Amino acid sequence: MVVTTTTAAEGRDEHVHFSTFATRYVRNPLPKFRMPEKSIPKEAAYQIISDELMLDGNPRLNLASFVTTWMEPECDRLIMASINKNYVDMDEYPVTTELQNRCVNMIARLFNAPVGDGETAVGVGTVGSSEAIMLAGLAFKRKWQQRRKSEGKPCDKPNIVTGANVQVCWEKFARYFEVELKEVKLSQGYYVMDPVKAVEMVDENTICVAAILGSTLTGEFEDVKLLNELLEKKNAETGWDTPIHVDAASGGFVAPFLYPDLEWDFRVPLVKSINVSGHKYGLVYAGVGWVIWRNKEELPEDLIFHINYLGSDQPTFTLNFSKGSSQIIAQYYQLIRLGFEGYKGVMENCMENTKVLREGIEATGRFNLLSKEMGVPLVAFSLKDSSRFTVFDLSENLRRFGWIVPAYTMPANAQHVAVLRVVVREDFGRSLAERLVNDICKLIDEMDVRPGRVSTTEAHVDMEADKHFRKSVQQIKQEVTTHWRRLVEGTTRGVC
Ligand SMILES: Cc1ncc(COP(=O)(O)O)c(C=O)c1O
Repeated sequence: MVVTTTTAAEGRDEHVHFSTFATRYVRNPLPKFRMPEKSIPKEAAYQIISDELMLDGNPRLNLASFVTTWMEPECDRLIMASINKNYVDMDEYPVTTELQNRCVNMIARLFNAPVGDGETAVGVGTVGSSEAIMLAGLAFKRKWQQRRKSEGKPCDKPNIVTGANVQVCWEKFARYFEVELKEVKLSQGYYVMDPVKAVEMVDENTICVAAILGSTLTGEFEDVKLLNELLEKKNAETGWDTPIHVDAASGGFVAPFLYPDLEWDFRVPLVKSINVSGHKYGLVYAGVGWVIWRNKEELPEDLIFHINYLGSDQPTFTLNFSKGSSQIIAQYYQLIRLGFEGYKGVMENCMENTKVLREGIEATGRFNLLSKEMGVPLVAFSLKDSSRFTVFDLSENLRRFGWIVPAYTMPANAQHVAVLRVVVREDFGRSLAERLVNDICKLIDEMDVRPGRVSTTEAHVDMEADKHFRKSVQQIKQEVTTHWRRLVEGTTRGVC
């Protein structure tokens, strides 16, 4: 990178072409709190920032995330070509608006929404599932309030029933929009919402029950069909009309291709809305999600803003006004480029590579698998014996090989279970899966011979020369939890 300085500048930068690394820009401290008075050459700004960014993790090796880290170069070109288009300028960019509508229609039909041929589905593109969930939650809250008001009943204590395994965005929705979150607790060995307990928790103030298709923690699908049956019965007994929302953030682009007979979507009568992250298994880079409603009756008209902006009436129902167009365009690219066949192929490969990983991890004999064979392609596993080292130690040490694998504890009431989770994305091929298993084995061998924190789960522990301590399983679990709490102080659920 060469910096050309043409204006009067300090010392040797004047009138000459220097490599950036021979200029003052790389030796001066970088502004961190206050905007600098003076400009710097674009080459220097580029070099300095890209150098610092080298210290970020490698996204392709970030196995913590469901979010897409690879797309075809043709799509990258489309993304760059539309990077300067504000999505909200619908009158100016009508084709982009049209592409979003096509995506909504395709996704709604993928989820078996009851829309006839030539009919338009009801839904909207968002920045991700979180925004999609806020919108769906608002629609439920408003519908419930309208009904309660029409019945002359109070409507100031809405609640929502979910499993304790919900992603943090549900807690955000509850707090931001003043809805009580009633969580069904988990238990060791059962890490999704129990539909029986969920329906027991439903009362007249419940605006909806949220089921997850692809729990963030283990990838497991919750049983939407059973939930529907139980809820229909309760609705019939009580005269309530409690609906279901499906949070299909990660499973929405998996289930239709791998498990077409699984009924979790609009085939299930009480499912009124579904969200999905386009940027997860929708195979688009970060910044796109979708929320689809069963029909227009489920989306209260008074939540839709009709604005007269830059020359036309624009109906909008989003939290933000401006946003980029690229991700919408990229979603449309993936839908038409891959088609059903292509998505199916990608999901099948992800599942095959998940199997390789599962089997490799199981073969070590050191882990319990928490994720099921059916679900989102990921492997969640816990150590059978954490007396010498914990999953947090493994997670930390895997970084040495370049892998980013998160370790976390489960939510209430399974907080004592600490797991590692590897998400298998499109770009995580078999050779990477095999290498990861090898690296885990190497680490186990290494840690087995290190001086241990404790020698057995419940026996004598040699620490600090010859002092003997006894550590119970309970103490070890406590340590694991404390370690994790320190790491994520102030946050509840860090995985996404
Ligand atoms: C089940 C579930 N719901 C919602 C979200 C939030 O999705 P987004 O990151 O698209 O906002 C996630 C993210 O991982 C998730 O796993």
